[in-house]
Amino acid sequence: MSSENITSVARESRKHTAPRDFQAQANIGSFARYRKLYAESVNAPEKFWAEQAAEHLLWRSMWKKVLQWKAPHAKWFVGGKLNVAENCLDRHLGTPRENKAAIVFEGEPGDQRTLTYKQLHQEVCRCANALESLGLRKGDRVAIYMPMVPEAAVAMLACARIGAVHTVVFGGFSSEAIKDRINDCQAKAVITADGGWRRGKIVELKANVDRALEATPSVEHVIVLERTKNPVSMQTGRDVWWHDVVSRASHRHKAKAFDAETPLFILYTSGSTGKPKGVLHTSGGYLLGTTMTAKYVFDLKETDTYWCTADVGWITGHSYVVYGILSNGATSVVYEGAPNHPEPDRFWSIIDRHAVTIFYTAPTAIRAFMRWGDAYPKKHDLSSLRLLGSVGEPINPEAWMWYFKTIGGGRCPIVDTWWQTETGAIMISPLPGAIPQKPGSATLPFFGVVPKVVDDQGKEVPKNSGGKLVITRPWPAMLRTLWGDDDRYTRQYWSDYPGIYFTGDGCRRDSDSYFWIVGRIDDVLNVSGHRIGTAEVESALVSHPSVAEAAAVGRPDELKGQALVVFVTLKNGVETSEALKETLRQHVAREIGALARPDSIRFAAALPKTRSGKIMRRLLKEIAAGGAVKGDTTTLEDFSVVASLQSEG
Ligand code: WTA
Repeated sequence: MSSENITSVARESRKHTAPRDFQAQANIGSFARYRKLYAESVNAPEKFWAEQAAEHLLWRSMWKKVLQWKAPHAKWFVGGKLNVAENCLDRHLGTPRENKAAIVFEGEPGDQRTLTYKQLHQEVCRCANALESLGLRKGDRVAIYMPMVPEAAVAMLACARIGAVHTVVFGGFSSEAIKDRINDCQAKAVITADGGWRRGKIVELKANVDRALEATPSVEHVIVLERTKNPVSMQTGRDVWWHDVVSRASHRHKAKAFDAETPLFILYTSGSTGKPKGVLHTSGGYLLGTTMTAKYVFDLKETDTYWCTADVGWITGHSYVVYGILSNGATSVVYEGAPNHPEPDRFWSIIDRHAVTIFYTAPTAIRAFMRWGDAYPKKHDLSSLRLLGSVGEPINPEAWMWYFKTIGGGRCPIVDTWWQTETGAIMISPLPGAIPQKPGSATLPFFGVVPKVVDDQGKEVPKNSGGKLVITRPWPAMLRTLWGDDDRYTRQYWSDYPGIYFTGDGCRRDSDSYFWIVGRIDDVLNVSGHRIGTAEVESALVSHPSVAEAAAVGRPDELKGQALVVFVTLKNGVETSEALKETLRQHVAREIGALARPDSIRFAAALPKTRSGKIMRRLLKEIAAGGAVKGDTTTLEDFSVVASLQSEG
């Protein structure tokens, strides 16, 4: 957590209020209205959430108790029953929405498809029937490893419909990562595709699944969607084609009602130890959180064409491509491929051709667009846009201003949304018609969210000084536990400050009480908006026969936010070489996925350690950033190690 970061954002004092006509039509159109609702949500939370749950969701039976809280375990809407897929689909049937586009899809090669609510409902029913005919039941885990195509959403919703628990594995992850996730949650089935398109090439998803499944005894069935038509091997008795089992199944399926606390999905995310954490979300609270935030943060209207560029492999894709958007009956744009294929104007071309009104993307993408140049957005008519969003990492004020002017034409509010895989839904963000925005700040908390910035003792720090961001009360969309490891859940999030959720982020509040997130303070990096645990990268490296020890740290990077730098000591007798560096980079990509491929590898004779043998990452960070080693080095065991690392530059 560098103090430069804090002071550089502190200089930013511009305040942007949404234009009058935006405010006039907004779902929440004034600061006074936000304040009133926020006060209600924290003064009488159970009353507030009960009213919201009744207004926003379709329940088969009502709950008996709004919240049962025995820290760190929450149960929301205890005794209530609902079906998440029914909330996203069936309840729009028989209304004017039934023939409205639910998903507008564009494949990377340029193919397009629109699924109305009625059509999406039928597809989900077919898939639900297919899953049941393969023997999948409530509580079974299903891994989904798909390209960004409508069938990814269909698969998720079909699991929800039958009460199965999905775990979506990002299509950029390697077979090792798939294997670990499947084994951790003991998935019985995998839904995948022959491939997906990325920068004109085929990503061989099925081949990756095949490698993973060599060591996943729990998997009984694999459903394979034909997307790219490249040859794949199909194992008799295990593998079936989507067009054989899903497309031929009945389009009618009666949805059962499930308890509000029925597990909906597990999503693995990086923590500060090697093993990814299986964040568990359940049904009623999660759906309420995503539905309400989608409606109020994105100011969703019946006429909107909404596009979130996140992959369904991330929480953003779960909450704001699928669940929160469809439960509101809005139109969700799904794009399969890369932003610069065939040209760096692909996103602007999509916005222009589909008349997208709300656009939600990540700062790392915005910085890439800035670098590619204004000529690309200028080639297209972006006047359909009325609201912009940002997520994944702090957005630097320069990128914010560029986004505001060049993409939003100076007329679109920007919602800088802070949240996490664990929080399920947006926690701190402007409500665009109500809360004035300051470039770089996520501004103020959503209803019912009570965040604080505290010191190590848990005491709130004064305005404008940095501290740790915590959430002091349970909220409906919060994670319930870590799959199979409730102790780790308690340790990781609830033990720094008993009974209070610790986010792992550093933060400060300004004189208007706005929140300014300054980044992670644990050993988790944010590379291009993706969380990567340093320990994961290190354990991948030491699994290579040449490596004795490794330490991964982040270096500030203009484009990616943070670049991944690893320091490696080799086993005795192994020679350093450029070729070995490349081999190790490839090795990490194979073990985890290309997103974790180190940007630079530095060989070291030894790593700086404390006398108790702990690697001093703070020093490595300073060395990686190219600066002098500052601060306390008295605990360092051997200073010559640092001196030699610096001289090797
Ligand atoms: C960071 C993504 C600043 C933060 C939804 C958080 C942000 C982590 C913002 C969660 C934002 C996300 N401003 N930082 N608007 N949004 N972050 O689990 O460090 O992939 O803890 O969830 O991303 O990443 P995750």
